[in-house]
Amino acid sequence: MRTVDLQIEDIVFGGKGVGREHGKAVFVPFTVDGEFISAKITRDKKKLAEAEVVDVRKPSSHRIEPRCPYFGRCGGCAYQHIDYSHQLEIKTSQVRDVLQRIGQIKDIPLRSIVPSPSPYAYRNRITVHAEDGVIGYFRRDSHRLIDVECCPIAMDEVNRELKDLRARKVPDGHYTLRARSGPRIFSQTNDAVATALRDLVIALVPPNQQLLVDAYCGAGFFAKALIDKFERIVGIDWDRFAIAAANENVTAKETYVAGDVEAGLRSALHECDKDRTVLLLDPPATGLGLRVREAIGDTAPATLIYISCNPSTLARDLGDFRHGFEIRSITPLDMFPQTAEIEVVAELRRLD
Ligand SMILES: C[S@@+](CC[C@H](N)C(=O)[O-])C[C@H]1O[C@@H](n2cnc3c(N)ncnc32)[C@H](O)[C@@H]1O
Repeated sequence: MRTVDLQIEDIVFGGKGVGREHGKAVFVPFTVDGEFISAKITRDKKKLAEAEVVDVRKPSSHRIEPRCPYFGRCGGCAYQHIDYSHQLEIKTSQVRDVLQRIGQIKDIPLRSIVPSPSPYAYRNRITVHAEDGVIGYFRRDSHRLIDVECCPIAMDEVNRELKDLRARKVPDGHYTLRARSGPRIFSQTNDAVATALRDLVIALVPPNQQLLVDAYCGAGFFAKALIDKFERIVGIDWDRFAIAAANENVTAKETYVAGDVEAGLRSALHECDKDRTVLLLDPPATGLGLRVREAIGDTAPATLIYISCNPSTLARDLGDFRHGFEIRSITPLDMFPQTAEIEVVAELRRLD
């Protein structure tokens, strides 16, 4: 395949740099906006191309030496070659761009991104895979494994677990290694940013509310911190182990239901004082299903707080709510430094 010279214009959501060859977008991973590179085209389509860097001819001042020996081969990190403050700038502009482009949202009330106090050694759990004596992560764009001795974005306790696992002869399979033991249910990955996220949600919820519906509540990470602001709390999650954990030490105000949010949200929002109802949404990366979006449109709770781990599906869903709700604030949080992932909190109020 041929080699092209490009100037990288932008780093798009997902982590790739984009340059143009005769107007056609060429996506190149492990680049930095502003720099001049030579890249080998690996996939050439009518409207876009994919390429790999062969030479950084004029590097960006934000380019730094990656810390991890597996960086570039491992499928986990995308930004170790970019200094941390520029990673934060890139993620902020990606959130703005995706909301404008996919959600057709103008005048985005974007707040400053919440950084991670530790840009490395922050993950409190990792999942590694074992196959034929190799223990590690999948290679980028492949299902082949790289043997990984240490993961610099994981906490020291997690890397000790990895060392122990590698010292044993384990059967092929997937292994989730954790900094501390606990039930096998969803938990936030970066403790310090999770605390900042919970504090932000508490600050966004108005006082003296009647009902909180915590959709996709897990073990009640948010609901339990919000008890004082509500007369009643209903949490819904289809993971019955998470619901069992939420039901340990419940107060009379709280009800946690094991079930599908798609099926249960409408009735949870039914017959309440809509003006004093808050709906908290923390869905998986796929975002909200159509039935959930319709139930929100029809029941119109006064306050919506949407916590998203995928700006693209957030943008789609917010685009749907445009006519019934005002977006009061959008706050990105860097839950996953060095990777392309972005967490975002959107605060919406019903339009009357
Ligand atoms: C991003 S996690 C959030 C969990 C929780 N809010 C927390 O912070 O710990 C998403 C949760 O949604 C749940 N979930 C995914 N799809 C669901 C559905 N259709 N109905 C109910 N729960 C669902 C998963 O079990 C998971 O606990």
